[in-house]
Amino acid sequence: MAAASEAQRVLVYGGRGALGSKCVDYFKSKNWWVASIDVTENAAANANIVVKLSDSFTEQSEEVTSAVDQLLGGQKVDAILCVAGGWAGGSAKAKSFYKNCDLMWKQSVWTSTISSHLATKHLKEGGLLTLSGANAALSATPGMSAYGMAKAAVHQLCQSLGGEKSGLPGNSAAVAILPVTLDTPANRAAMPDADFTCWTPLDYIAETFFNWTNGKNRPKSGSLIQVVTEKGKTELVPAQL
Ligand SMILES: NC(=O)c1ccc[n+]([C@@H]2O[C@H](COP(=O)([O-])OP(=O)(O)OC[C@H]3O[C@@H](n4cnc5c(N)ncnc54)[C@H](O)[C@@H]3O)[C@@H](O)[C@H]2O)c1
Repeated sequence: MAAASEAQRVLVYGGRGALGSKCVDYFKSKNWWVASIDVTENAAANANIVVKLSDSFTEQSEEVTSAVDQLLGGQKVDAILCVAGGWAGGSAKAKSFYKNCDLMWKQSVWTSTISSHLATKHLKEGGLLTLSGANAALSATPGMSAYGMAKAAVHQLCQSLGGEKSGLPGNSAAVAILPVTLDTPANRAAMPDADFTCWTPLDYIAETFFNWTNGKNRPKSGSLIQVVTEKGKTELVPAQL
């Protein structure tokens, strides 16, 4: 593992995924020190923490937390971007309902929970934590119940982190992005005939994270930011709850 010695540092949780890899590349191109936390390594990152799959949340969270402690050695980071997650369809009647719920907690809720605790320990004052929710989970998702529940939990966590005495360092912010559809290779393969002009380019989000990290147009802490792309144009729209 390379030491976290450079001045500007970011942890990308889910750094091997579609958006995660884009974030790793983007921040690296700006000469930041980038660490990826994922179940497989991202060779483009300066350092990697490889998460061991587990059925125990406390086991996984403690392992990741101590690996990050060791990696950072007391150095603080400017941002933690949690872009880990996943998707599963199916109603509460589905045969795979329990299995999907289990997977959704692990991919979205566990990773967001660990990221938020890491933020309380390792973010600089004025730092940024981003979480990944979903626009669909602002309302009922009967055809993808597990996914909707997990993402709604992420929204709730983000709002709590934005409250007083949330444990985050002073002047730092937690912001959740709520995408509709990201323009990823997996989505292109699954929906080859879709209208790609209403899918959000990954570069747009990586750049937005970079701007927010530097304080530019950063939403207030606890915000849920809908990412809406229409006719090739993307807008960031705060959800009004
Ligand atoms: N792709 C979309 O259209 C879309 C739409 C709405 C929301 N989102 C959300 O945006 C985020 C990024 O989406 P994406 O398409 O890049 O996802 P992706 O599936 O390409 O990448 C997710 C990454 O998270 C990692 N991950 C999952 N569980 C983990 C764990 N327990 N520990 C460590 N890493 C773990 C995976 O290994 C993977 O590399 C996700 O949270 C996703 O749910 C995506």
